[in-house]
Amino acid sequence: MTTILGIETSCDETAAAVVADGQTIRSNIVASQVDIHAQYGGIFPEIASRAHIERIYPVVDQALKQAEITLDSVDAIAVTRGPGLPGSLVVGVNTAKGLALGRGLPLLAINHLEGHVYSLWLAGPEFRFVAGESAPGEEWVPIEFPVVVLIVSGGHTELILMTGHGEYRRLGGTLDDAAGEAFDKVGRLLGLPYPGGPSIQKAAENGDAAAFDFPRAWLRSNQGEQNYNFSFSGLKTAVLRTLQRLYPDYRPDADLPPDLPVADLAASFQAAVVEVLVGKTVRAAREFDAKEIFIAGGVSANTALRATMIAQAGVPVRVPPLHLCTDNAAMIAAAGHFRYLAGQRDSLDFDVLPTWPLA
Ligand code: KG4
Ligand code: ZN
Repeated sequence: MTTILGIETSCDETAAAVVADGQTIRSNIVASQVDIHAQYGGIFPEIASRAHIERIYPVVDQALKQAEITLDSVDAIAVTRGPGLPGSLVVGVNTAKGLALGRGLPLLAINHLEGHVYSLWLAGPEFRFVAGESAPGEEWVPIEFPVVVLIVSGGHTELILMTGHGEYRRLGGTLDDAAGEAFDKVGRLLGLPYPGGPSIQKAAENGDAAAFDFPRAWLRSNQGEQNYNFSFSGLKTAVLRTLQRLYPDYRPDADLPPDLPVADLAASFQAAVVEVLVGKTVRAAREFDAKEIFIAGGVSANTALRATMIAQAGVPVRVPPLHLCTDNAAMIAAAGHFRYLAGQRDSLDFDVLPTWPLA
């Protein structure tokens, strides 16, 4: 039995969690800064760093208290080393180093993307879906490799083949904007509140996904074959051009025309993103004989993405519970559990890695 304290400060959530055996969440505290950054319509790195400094110790304390333990019963501290904002990462890493040094505890440096992958180990049996089955499973089905993982967040869009614990092959990723970033930027074009993802999903509920024919970036090679990369900036531009065509006076961040077809635009944009994300993930699962498909990261909360993936996968699909889609420290602790079992121990002199590919 392991008890891992996880710490995550890579972006705009200050988070700490206690996880037992890589699977049972004893506590999961997230102090979100979304309200602070909403006024800027995006994340302001220096403000994020300062907010982490103010919050990290209370958040760690609360995680231990809620788990009803002290550091004495912690086996190791797992902390996000990267990728992320340097000034944010350094707060979590220095806190983890201080605690590890003070208590003589092992320290584990974790890749944030690996954390998102391990959010699926924290998802109960009700988060494993098989198309055509009316209800999700009731019993935990052990995870078998290989698995194709789609990580989609505000900062990342990565398609990964996972062949074992800690074994990854990167199949592709975004060439420009991350999927969540596209949601956020288009949300802004449509005058919806930040973050754009949940706002667009909500607006799209009453919209017609076929109302606008936005482009799908399948990114074929000269031989006509698709690759596993993504591109969303052309789609964002297509939405902007459509708005400018409909309303010659349109300007982002200005007063929007009252008759703007927000629901149809949101639904059509969302459909274009989902179609490409699902199409490429499912193709990868076939090509590599994946046993299952995982989706993770903030955008994996999207209901259209989940439903379409489950319907088209051809293999079971696991999704994280909503509170584990966005950044949290429980997923870092879960990844830390498997790294701890594999014998990883990091010395106190490692530095943060703002860019750190998973594979
Ligand atoms: O994983 P996350 O919390 O932070 C990063 O590591 O980036 O992801 C945040 C992103 C934002 O871009 C947000 O708009 C998007 O996830 N998001 C969604 C939904 N909920 C959050 N995108 C689409 N549909 C949603 N329901
Ligand atoms: Zn993330």
